[in-house]
Amino acid sequence: MEDKRPSWSSRVSFILAAVGSAVGLGNIWRFPYIMGQNGGAIFLVVYLLLIITICFIPLFAELAVGKITKKECVGAYESINPKFKLLGIMNPVTGILISSFYFIVGGWIINYIGLSFSNLKMFNFGEYFTELTQNSIPACGLTLAFLLICIFFTARGVKKGIEFANNVLMPMFAVILLGLIAFSLSLPNSHLGLEYMFKPDFSKVNAHMFLAALGQALFTLSIGMGALLTYGSYIKDDKSITKSTYTIIFSDTLFALLAGIMIFPAIFSFGLEPNSGAGLVFVTLPHIFAQIPHGEIVSLAFFVLLLAAAVTSGISILEVPVASMTERMKISRTKACTILFFIIAAFAIPATLSFGILGDFKIFGKNIFDCLDFVTSNLLMPLNAFFLCIIAGWFLKIKGNSFINNKFVAFLFDIGLKFVVPIILLLLLYIGLRA
Ligand code: TRP
Repeated sequence: MEDKRPSWSSRVSFILAAVGSAVGLGNIWRFPYIMGQNGGAIFLVVYLLLIITICFIPLFAELAVGKITKKECVGAYESINPKFKLLGIMNPVTGILISSFYFIVGGWIINYIGLSFSNLKMFNFGEYFTELTQNSIPACGLTLAFLLICIFFTARGVKKGIEFANNVLMPMFAVILLGLIAFSLSLPNSHLGLEYMFKPDFSKVNAHMFLAALGQALFTLSIGMGALLTYGSYIKDDKSITKSTYTIIFSDTLFALLAGIMIFPAIFSFGLEPNSGAGLVFVTLPHIFAQIPHGEIVSLAFFVLLLAAAVTSGISILEVPVASMTERMKISRTKACTILFFIIAAFAIPATLSFGILGDFKIFGKNIFDCLDFVTSNLLMPLNAFFLCIIAGWFLKIKGNSFINNKFVAFLFDIGLKFVVPIILLLLLYIGLRA
């Protein structure tokens, strides 16, 4: 049993892990398709604006609460005021719910890695993907396989598991991504994809786009579930976390842009539609891979890349409940991970089956998968982020000058943390609830 709290072996390890948490399916699977559905370059402008003006505040606050309290989420909230305990508990609960659908997508990736070893020309990927998701037993097997991979790293602990996974997988991820970008840009007419990404059409601005951009920004930066709080609590030096905040935001945005530069030129080069939704990576891209020479190798590289990114994010989601369980219930990591495996499986299996035999089972008109996605992204994450800002701003009294020396920026930070960000999050919640 660990009686001493774990900590990072170095700053670099912390930053790699935090970037590993942020960069995931949100960047490579979700970002391009949400951008494709929301008008391309103009969505990018809104998204970047929101990140620069708003999202850095809860991100910094989350890291700061972890670093100051040196506790997992529940203990951190409780130490600020025992009344906040329940709000703290919402973080690991949200983590369990997010993992239940995030890990399903992870399972699909494992399947596509296997698929890359067969002749891609034989498939109609639209039908293939539908069949894959509907085929109950293999689909559950894939979800559980992905869960096991992430649990394995989490169970090994912060230094041996989480750091190791990030130190190996993140650089590998970057190399494969650059290779695929070079390939995508070498395709004929690739400039059309770049134009789609970078030439905004301001006539397409609408309210829904702001909501989609904010939701995407929170999700991709891992805000609103205590993952950064937990990672922040493992920092042992007392250097400022301002630079870490910049690094996380910069890297996450860079990886999202690179993912776009990898995907859109290929889509335009093949005359496909960028707005095909969640199937973009699982239907549209394999369709492209099937048409190019040695497409199987490109496909393998791509899905290995996606798996690496998903695993480093998956372990950060798991770390939140694991940290809470080990520290509060005083059980070993292995035991916590075993219990967690069964809890997540209990949610993830029905969610996996909601594409197949449980397809008719609807909650508020949504199947279980969509319901989990909706409840976490549109309700719980904004709600958790809201309470975090209120607690950090009003009760822990985190000040802008702990973020930056510049008085004016520090002032804006304070206003943002105490008023602007909470109000915007409430607005997001309100609109989300009406949707
Ligand atoms: N940010 C990750 C991604 O882009 C997903 C993720 C990891 C996450 N940890 C999180 C999302 C915590 C919300 C909260 O794929």
